[in-house]
Amino acid sequence: MIRGLRQIEPYVAGAQPAEKKMIKLNTNENAYGASPKVGEALASFDADSLRKYSTLDQADLRAVLAENLQVRPEQLMIANGSDDVLSIAFLAFFNNDEPVLFPDLTYGFYKVWADLYRVNYHEIPLAEDFTIRTEDYLADNGGIILTNPNAPTGIYKPLAEIEAILQANRDVVVILDEAYINFGGQSALPLLSKYDNLVITRTFSKDAALAGLRVGYAIASPELIAVMNAVKHSINPYSVDLLAEKLAAAAVEDWPYYQANAKKIQKTRDWFSQQLVKQGFTVLPSQANFVLTKPAGISAAALFKALEARKIYVRYFPTVDRIKDYLRISIGRQEEMEAVIKTIEDLK
Ligand SMILES: Cc1ncc(COP(=O)(O)O)c(C=O)c1O
Repeated sequence: MIRGLRQIEPYVAGAQPAEKKMIKLNTNENAYGASPKVGEALASFDADSLRKYSTLDQADLRAVLAENLQVRPEQLMIANGSDDVLSIAFLAFFNNDEPVLFPDLTYGFYKVWADLYRVNYHEIPLAEDFTIRTEDYLADNGGIILTNPNAPTGIYKPLAEIEAILQANRDVVVILDEAYINFGGQSALPLLSKYDNLVITRTFSKDAALAGLRVGYAIASPELIAVMNAVKHSINPYSVDLLAEKLAAAAVEDWPYYQANAKKIQKTRDWFSQQLVKQGFTVLPSQANFVLTKPAGISAAALFKALEARKIYVRYFPTVDRIKDYLRISIGRQEEMEAVIKTIEDLK
């Protein structure tokens, strides 16, 4: 019998099927590819440069990103995907006795990090209509983390309500996970100059179509960024590899390309939502690149299986009681979503 083994219930990530031909709508990846500028940067990458360790501070990437976001480079920390950024943020900011607050229905990883790092937390039920109630976040707490637009609901919380939460919690860190913000809604970036307790996290996995590259970042005051850097440098200082830094910078430099694709995705999302409503489905109002929907005339489980049999992969959460009758469907290209609608029509 070996002693000292850690028992933890891990985060269950969406499947990554190996098939070449499929419609993959289960992990909210971008429907469109990377910018041609990313391809060029990849082709011209000097393999010999990998002899050396990667940079410690991603100065080049932070410089282009700072310009793009209109913040200062000292306000940015880069890490290996926003999962890495968020994990660092939990260690950096959630060290109080009072519970950290987050909704019962949000990005499933928050609970896993809280358990892993032995952070006291309280999951607050979303309202009946799946919105985040501002008043629930005005009580004493050890910190707050919210996703906006929320996942897996896709519902956006207006900035004035976010500001009310920041205002009422000035002595703890409030993390806003803006993984999906470029598909709708207004970013909290303008609030950074007013609230030194705000930390925004972002990813290159969704709007920048680089999920496989693993780059994410935090935006906050230089003081909070310094705390995150201290934690990052206590775990894995070289966590952002040289290739990732270079390709992410190329993506930022071609941002209009990604903005155009985000617009197409929004258009397809709104079309797809309307089609589902026509089928009698319940569809939550989404500002993200996915929708959460409750099928009608067929159960979520049966639809999930039928789609899977046709190599259309969506996300089903049978163990999450509140949404066990729902499916989360990422928004793919228009023709992919037309194929999904056609399949649903044929099944009914
Ligand atoms: C709300 C939210 N935050 C963070 C992440 C993690 O993204 P990344 O690929 O940057 O680790 C995801 C991924 O699905 C997400 O949905």
